[in-house]
Amino acid sequence: MTEPAPPFAKLSVLSGLWQGIWPKKPTFLPDQYPDLSGISAIVTGANTGIGYEVAKLLYGKNCDVIAVVRSELKGKEAREKILSEVNGSGGSIEVISGCDFLDLSTVKPAAEKIKAVLGDRPLGIIIHNAGLMAPNSNGTSKQGFEAMFSVNVLGPQLLQHFLDPLFLKKDAAIKRIVWVSSAAHLYGFKEYGINWDNPTFRDVPVNRRPHHQTLYGQSKAANVLQANAWAVKNQKAVDEISCVSVSCFPGVLYTQLVRDWGFLANKLMPLLTYGGVYGAYTELYSALSPDLTRKDQGAYTIPFGQIGEPRADIKAGMRNGSDLKLWDIAEDIISDYF
Ligand SMILES: NC(=O)c1ccc[n+]([C@@H]2O[C@H](COP(=O)([O-])OP(=O)(O)OC[C@H]3O[C@@H](n4cnc5c(N)ncnc54)[C@H](OP(=O)(O)O)[C@@H]3O)[C@@H](O)[C@H]2O)c1
Repeated sequence: MTEPAPPFAKLSVLSGLWQGIWPKKPTFLPDQYPDLSGISAIVTGANTGIGYEVAKLLYGKNCDVIAVVRSELKGKEAREKILSEVNGSGGSIEVISGCDFLDLSTVKPAAEKIKAVLGDRPLGIIIHNAGLMAPNSNGTSKQGFEAMFSVNVLGPQLLQHFLDPLFLKKDAAIKRIVWVSSAAHLYGFKEYGINWDNPTFRDVPVNRRPHHQTLYGQSKAANVLQANAWAVKNQKAVDEISCVSVSCFPGVLYTQLVRDWGFLANKLMPLLTYGGVYGAYTELYSALSPDLTRKDQGAYTIPFGQIGEPRADIKAGMRNGSDLKLWDIAEDIISDYF
């Protein structure tokens, strides 16, 4: 550990959740988005939920969207649906399938396909949106890692490793990376959200792991730390190219994320929460708003498009090197799949 984490007020957890339950109205809407002609964007998990809405809104602004998904069929169906719903776009939608963050060996082949599809076009936006929340899976990845840590943390960092050489170029007016987190980061472990001794819970049987919401919280705390760590690790290039890397709590939204929460939750959620498009407003505020500049590396955005505050200890972790420590732990694990 870099240094013991400062305490955080329990009330801050409640107020953080409140931001999702009672969000501010979106202030940055599609009619304010810039024209994205000639700019490519990568959106993971673009076949459903928030990612689908993000891909659709970007495509509506003439963006060349690269939808990174695991199921070819779901990806193609989503692409067809967007093409039928959005008229007159000058952009494109390419689907890269087979990228399954529960099997890290699939990420490199997907990244090679992305490189081929992208060609010389400028990559301006990367949205690490794909995510898994238990109990959809409270299991273990193919490589033996706790499932949510693999999908929400290791997979995106590994994909980013392959995207860095494509992204770190001075070739577009917009250069943003969005690491999609959640207010659930507030439920992460006590020390900067992370179980430092063994964040992947490798070799720990499922029934001896902490509650799945704590594990989801850990993965989402990691996303907050990753946003800042990436900018620090790439500081020189970031300064030269004016990239901005932020994390984002998109909102409390009814999507496929709660597909296994049972009948009652799936009846109540649509009545009590907003649809996925509102999460897209937050993610695209993070990706496109001029509010965010180079000084906002590691900012944490909240629904439906403003800068918020992550948990106090996690914020401190971005100043004392805990973010870099997590990045290096993950880097060590994923380097087997470079
Ligand atoms: N909905 C909310 O209230 C909420 C709140 C806070 C944060 N978030 C975050 O927002 C992001 C999007 O969530 P959502 O609500 O849109 O959920 P969703 O409807 O369940 O969509 C999740 C996406 O992630 C993909 N995915 C899941 N497991 C994967 C894996 N192993 N490898 C690659 N892709 C995988 C899914 O693909 P398949 O369709 O193939 O499963 C799907 O495209 C997530 O990071 C989530 O944690 C959501």
